[in-house]
Amino acid sequence: MFLSLALLTTSALAASSEDWKSRSIYQIMTDRFAVDDGSTTEPCDAGLGTYCGGTFNGIRKRLDYIQGMGFDAIWISPVTKQIDGDEPGRAGYHGYWQQDLYAVEPHFGTADDLKALSQELHDRDMYLMVDVVVNHNGWLGSSDSIDYSVFKPFNDESFYHPYCEINFDDFSNTTNIEECWLPSAQVPLPDLRTEDDAVAKGYQTWISELVSNYSIDGLRLDTVMEVEKDFWPDFVAAAGGIYMVGEVAFGDPGTVCSYQDYLPGLLDYGSFFKLTDAFQSTSGNMSDLATSVASVQSECNDPSLLGSFSENHDQPRFAYLNPDIVAAENLIAYTMLTDGIPIIYEGQEQHYAAEGSSNGNDPYNREAVWLSGYNTDASLYKLVTKLNQVRTNAIKDHTNKDYLEYQSEVVHVDDSTIATRKGKIVAVLSNLGSEGDSYTLDVAAKYRPNRKLTEVLSCETLTADGEGHVAVPMEGGKPKVYYPTALLKGSGLCGH
Ligand SMILES: *[C@@H]1O[C@H](CO)[C@@H](O)[C@H](O)[C@H]1NC(C)=O
Ligand SMILES: *[C@@H]1O[C@H](CO)[C@@H](O)[C@H](O)[C@H]1NC(C)=O
Ligand SMILES: *[C@@H]1O[C@H](CO)[C@@H](O)[C@H](O)[C@H]1NC(C)=O
Repeated sequence: MFLSLALLTTSALAASSEDWKSRSIYQIMTDRFAVDDGSTTEPCDAGLGTYCGGTFNGIRKRLDYIQGMGFDAIWISPVTKQIDGDEPGRAGYHGYWQQDLYAVEPHFGTADDLKALSQELHDRDMYLMVDVVVNHNGWLGSSDSIDYSVFKPFNDESFYHPYCEINFDDFSNTTNIEECWLPSAQVPLPDLRTEDDAVAKGYQTWISELVSNYSIDGLRLDTVMEVEKDFWPDFVAAAGGIYMVGEVAFGDPGTVCSYQDYLPGLLDYGSFFKLTDAFQSTSGNMSDLATSVASVQSECNDPSLLGSFSENHDQPRFAYLNPDIVAAENLIAYTMLTDGIPIIYEGQEQHYAAEGSSNGNDPYNREAVWLSGYNTDASLYKLVTKLNQVRTNAIKDHTNKDYLEYQSEVVHVDDSTIATRKGKIVAVLSNLGSEGDSYTLDVAAKYRPNRKLTEVLSCETLTADGEGHVAVPMEGGKPKVYYPTALLKGSGLCGH
């Protein structure tokens, strides 16, 4: 009895990769989610690239909004102290220009505020994922005027590679990618010699303390590809083996998945570009997306540990690329029901569109969430809620224990549609948009013959035919998500 209690306590403290598989993550850019006093009118011009005022306390007081959508984890910006600038384009409001690993960025709050956020999350049985950067620091000035003594703990030039800029056209040259500096117009990013023992050990000490000081459950790793692969295993061990999801921002599944020999998880960039392309317009390529499902599954050691996403702070808002809300519905449904741990980027649920930009991207794609008024009646907010419910139900469903390990199967693909089956969830997704015609699509969904099904977004019911096919009533490009009606008991969906 005593022993099992002790084991329980330990597992409650450190969240393993296995523990993360069933979670879903809401990605927060700390400066842009919520201000301390709960204001929904605090001005924030995302295009300026300056601090807007979001804080740890702000997040803590707005967790109902996130939990209300069914998320049980958040990913927040790097918490470390940034460069001092606050002029347009020269502020570290995003957290990727750190100088002091041992101090918390004061704009976001204090160390105690961060601890209070962590505590509140755990009281709600939610997980805290913190973004961390090991590839570089930030310097406000020119690359030949750097005072290395300001950095902590790596306070000497000898800890850094000499200046050269990464040339992304020379992609096959790993020395260039790993040892040169990330290009950055106004703020040079001094590149750490992560291959040196002193630097690697320094990072191990730091991450072990950071994870323990703030009871962090998981890490998002920035710029993984710009650090040599051998750096990662000891870093993972030093962090106590908690789950990590790394950024390899490259569209080839083989390249992304090759890092899974070194790290638990990766953001699924191997699917991302095909996914956003597929739903961007009626000429999006569905078969390319279908192919990527299979290549990710064959290239990655464990697709269930990938982070599945369709927007983030470095990519165009999808609503900028395609303003039709029905397209966003299909995209979100794919993101949340495919293999891996779903991640929704703050503002995606409010159909944010990077207003004022010429490409939908950084810095305009970092709109303040408070300006939406945290509208829980927004249609995508409600959609995300339902998708989290159907996924959670499938995971809990005792007849469906294998949901998380079940690898998505493409059961139908044509010019405008992809249908996937994962466990007992069948999602039929379209890129025809709200102008799409009404027609009936035969999908070989592999249900039990004559099984009664509920389409959980509309709550319409139908019955599979004698071969387990579904006659899907397509209309206005709407996504359709099927689940056996008898197994919806207790799901909170469609009156169950
Ligand atoms: C690879 O990149 C490094 C750093 O830029 C450079 O010194 C080296 O010459 C490159 N190697 C080749 C084969 O181009
Ligand atoms: C963790 O907390 C200890 C004790 O307060 C402190 O000395 C140490 O610097 C902290 N480390 C980090 C990375 O925050
Ligand atoms: C979709 O992409 C595949 C692979 O890139 C290509 O072979 C095919 O022609 C494309 N289909 C359409 C309709 O563009």
